[in-house]
Parts: sequence; structure tokens; C-alpha cells
Amino acid sequence: MSLRLGDIAPDFSADTTLGHINFHEFIGDSWVLLFSHPADFTPVCTTELGKTALLNGEFQKRNVKPIAISVDSLESHNKWVPDIEEVNSVKMNFPIIADPEKKVALLYDMIHPNASEKATVRSVFVIGPDKKIKLTLTYPASTGRNFTEILRVIDSLQLTANYQVATPADWVNGEDVIIVPAVSNEDAVAKFPKGFTSVKPYLRKTPQPNL
Ligand code: BEZ
Repeated sequence: MSLRLGDIAPDFSADTTLGHINFHEFIGDSWVLLFSHPADFTPVCTTELGKTALLNGEFQKRNVKPIAISVDSLESHNKWVPDIEEVNSVKMNFPIIADPEKKVALLYDMIHPNASEKATVRSVFVIGPDKKIKLTLTYPASTGRNFTEILRVIDSLQLTANYQVATPADWVNGEDVIIVPAVSNEDAVAKFPKGFTSVKPYLRKTPQPNL
């Protein structure tokens, strides 16, 4: 069965390019970006893992640990890493899970047989410190992911975890947010001291509360 938002991310143990891990221990008190790629030594994947390494500072700022996975062996990953580093002018700074037996890939439903029988598609899971799945995305092999968008969603997830707000279409960190309908106007006055504007009774905007 596929994993759904709010589910506990299944635990597993696996070898990675940075040593053996237990996944729940790896999560610890952090947020985690678990993302699969179809295969080592392929062009789009080489750019994706490089981009993630280049964004290390952005992930660290948000207390997010990236971790990649494919069904390739540890030996293959270790041979591929220098290519990622060379092509993207970056040092690899996050682990890649080796999953040649497809244990994790099947656990997380990362193999979509009608797209590819053997390889993982480009799955994305954002997992919170409570070990719950906060976001899932699935891209085909042909389309590299937009990691700026992934950071944007993480900003929204982290903000909305702490305040009774939601973020509108195309929102980026720093812009006004929406007060969730469950908050009455009376409560909103106290909860959002910067004030709010009612575009509609059900659409109330307020400056981002954590700034
Ligand atoms: C790639 O990463 O470039 C790729 C991998 C599998 C299929 C197509 C493209």
C-alpha cells in the first residue's frame, strides 16, 4: 500500500555512502528529504544530486537532512560520487542509500512498474522530526526536480506546523499568509497581532507571523 501524508515513515536499516544507518535514528530531531533517483551514472540524476549538495547551506538553515536512494549498489554509488562532485563543482555532503535488493524502494513504493520495472522513479518524501510524512512528490525519470520548489514547500511546512496559517499559490518565504478558517476573527486579533485583512470572510491575509 502506498504511503500517505501523516503516516509514520517506515523505519529501515541500510548501507549508505556515509556509513550504515537506521533511518529513524538518522531522522533524529531533524526534518528529512528522502528522494530516489532512477540510476547512478545518468545525466539528470547527476545534476539533481549535485544541486542538492550545492544547496547544503539552505537545507542546514532549515534543519533538513537530505538523503538520496537508488537500487544501485554501494560500490556503484561510491564510483559515481566523484562524477557528481566534478560535474557540479561541489563536495558531496549527504548520504546515498544503496538498495540493490529494493527493500526500501518497495517499502516506500518508489518503483512504478508501468513507468520502469526495475528502477525507482523520482520520489520525494519530506519527513518531520515526529517521523511523519509531510509531503510526497513523484516525478518521472525524464524530468529533473526543482529543488528551489522543494525548499519553498519545506518553508511552508515548517511555518504552518507552528502557526494556524496556510500559504497561498506561489507563496515564497516572507510573503503574507492566510489565516486558517478554523480561527475566528475574534481569536485572529489575539493570534495575529500584526493585523489581518479580509479579502473574503473565508480569505484573511496576515503578514508572516514568524518574521
Ligand atoms: C537521467 O537521470 O538522466 C535519467 C535516468 C533514467 C532515465 C532517463 C534519464
